[in-house]
Amino acid sequence: MFDPQEVFVVFVLGGPGSGKGTQSEYIIKDYGFVHLSAGDLLREEQKREGSQYKELIQDCIREGKIVPMEVTIALLENAMKEAIDKEGKKRFLIDGFPRKMDQALKFEEVVVESQFTLYFECSEDTLVTRLLKRGESSGRIDDNIESIKKRFQTFKETSFPVIEYYEGKDKVRKVNAERDIEKVYADVKKVIEAALEQTKA
Ligand code: ADP
Ligand code: C5P
Ligand code: MG
Repeated sequence: MFDPQEVFVVFVLGGPGSGKGTQSEYIIKDYGFVHLSAGDLLREEQKREGSQYKELIQDCIREGKIVPMEVTIALLENAMKEAIDKEGKKRFLIDGFPRKMDQALKFEEVVVESQFTLYFECSEDTLVTRLLKRGESSGRIDDNIESIKKRFQTFKETSFPVIEYYEGKDKVRKVNAERDIEKVYADVKKVIEAALEQTKA
């Protein structure tokens, strides 16, 4: 659909609560990326009047399961087209996607190849603490300990292999996400700046 010379896609991955959303918000301010969180797009679709996927999405999210890729890829595609056509944007942070190998292969086949994956590495102990804290105000149906355990399971079994796949292609830039937001972001900036030096997008 898009030419990777023209449309610059960075996948932002990491366990639940590793700071993908937080760091993406910093990046968009400094580098003019569009931030598309797959989870946010799914939650919007779940709430949308008339959506045929309401129950499917809600069940998957509560159980920490992966929503079938067709749904998520269509949402991402639409959001990218809109940003390109209406705002002339070319740089995208695709946050929380791909979470499963089929999503990775299909997206890169049909939409556009990614430049690299920004991977936030963080221990489960830290993630649990952050998610339970976020759950005090997020209103998310999956920020509770039962769902969190299921999300960790899915991350290890289904999502981590995607990171390994891109590591095998030397396309992972790993950042230690255990530290303060500012310290993490200092490393993120280095990664983004190094990558942007080599692109026209
Ligand atoms: P993700 O999008 O990866 O699930 P978020 O960006 O939503 O993660 O962060 C999860 C929670 O942890 C949020 O409440 C956020 O404010 C907090 N948080 C994010 N990064 C850090 C950090 N480096 N140190 C402490 N708390 C953080
Ligand atoms: O990234 P986030 O934590 O917001 O994702 C919330 C949930 O949305 C995931 O646990 C999963 O159920 C669903 N999701 C998905 N496929 C993605 C991203 C999120 O099924 N690529
Ligand atoms: Mg998030």
